[in-house]
Amino acid sequence: MKLFDVYPLYDITPVSAEGVILTDDKGQDYLDLYGGHAVISIGHKHPHYVKRLKDQIDRIGFYSNAVQNPLQQALAKKLGSLSGCDDYQLFMCNSGAEANENALKLASFHTGKSRIVAFHNSFHGRTSAAVATTDNPAINAPINKQQKVTFLSFEDTPGLKQELKKDDVCAVIMEAIQGVGGLDEPSAGFYQEVAQICKEHEVVLIADEVQSGFGRSGKFFAYQHHAIEPDIISIAKGMGNGFPVGGILIHPKFKASYGMLGTTFGGNHLACAATLAVLEVLEQENLISNAEKLGVYFKQKANEIPQVKRVKGKGLMLGLEFDFEVAPLRKKLIYDQHVFTGSAKDKKVLRILPALTINKAHLNHFFDALKQELS
Ligand SMILES: Cc1ncc(COP(=O)(O)O)c(C=O)c1O
Repeated sequence: MKLFDVYPLYDITPVSAEGVILTDDKGQDYLDLYGGHAVISIGHKHPHYVKRLKDQIDRIGFYSNAVQNPLQQALAKKLGSLSGCDDYQLFMCNSGAEANENALKLASFHTGKSRIVAFHNSFHGRTSAAVATTDNPAINAPINKQQKVTFLSFEDTPGLKQELKKDDVCAVIMEAIQGVGGLDEPSAGFYQEVAQICKEHEVVLIADEVQSGFGRSGKFFAYQHHAIEPDIISIAKGMGNGFPVGGILIHPKFKASYGMLGTTFGGNHLACAATLAVLEVLEQENLISNAEKLGVYFKQKANEIPQVKRVKGKGLMLGLEFDFEVAPLRKKLIYDQHVFTGSAKDKKVLRILPALTINKAHLNHFFDALKQELS
């Protein structure tokens, strides 16, 4: 059987990894500033993570949501206390798209309405409603285009008021820092207005923290830079440090009923063990504060490079904007300098999404490599 050929692949085969270093089948090391698309949060093969997963699989790896799973309770408690969202309720699933799909579905159940407001350049995943709220017609099939979605620009408060007045909107979904789009952010003032207007119209505000959550922005959630309170928060990626896990945090005003949401794999024992390990390491190693500090250091160093037009993002969710398309540079960084970086929908933005364990020496190494390629 052949693979369905949907990914343009780099000709590199990683076979092992530790911390922020990947090693390929020829023994070549690479500095990983991409984290497999913002997934590796506490570093590859973190010993605590490995131990927790091994111990768990030695006991029980999976059972469905038909039985008690105290790991889910332990995880909800730890996640609530570390994120400051103690009073929210947790529903677990398996990916970022599925998290947003459940968030949108819950908003629709709650309001009895179905139109969604999303923002230009958004990315919320590839499933039914999640992809419909993603501003990329190329990945929306006719079946997805049946969803009713209105796209607005950040800072368009009059447009938002006008749409919500129509009384048919169930949710506004928003990334506090756009990932795939290229690191654009709404202002704090706009995010606060969105929250207020949603409240006035009883529309559900969904904070998509799939990429920016779990400390990446220098706070547990990126919306927390803006002093607002979303109704639903979607999470995945860094949550499992590579184990496929996602979820939504649901405001206490939402009442659950049996069968309203459900999943076979979501919240299984291994997923909980992986997420608990991530939370424990984030806390024990002060990684959120490291993300904040290293983000500041990265910006200082980047601003010394004349070819860099703008440094975007917060914490370790960063982008370097150039006045040229970065694909060839990214290729040279990988093949000549052995440094992994990320791309964005904005072709002039190079994305930097390392594990939150990264240190100054790693970043200095990256800037030396970048300078060599730009000279
Ligand atoms: C902000 C955001 N939401 C949702 C998703 C979808 O996540 P997944 O690929 O796990 O379905 C992504 C993936 O890049 C994302 O960046």
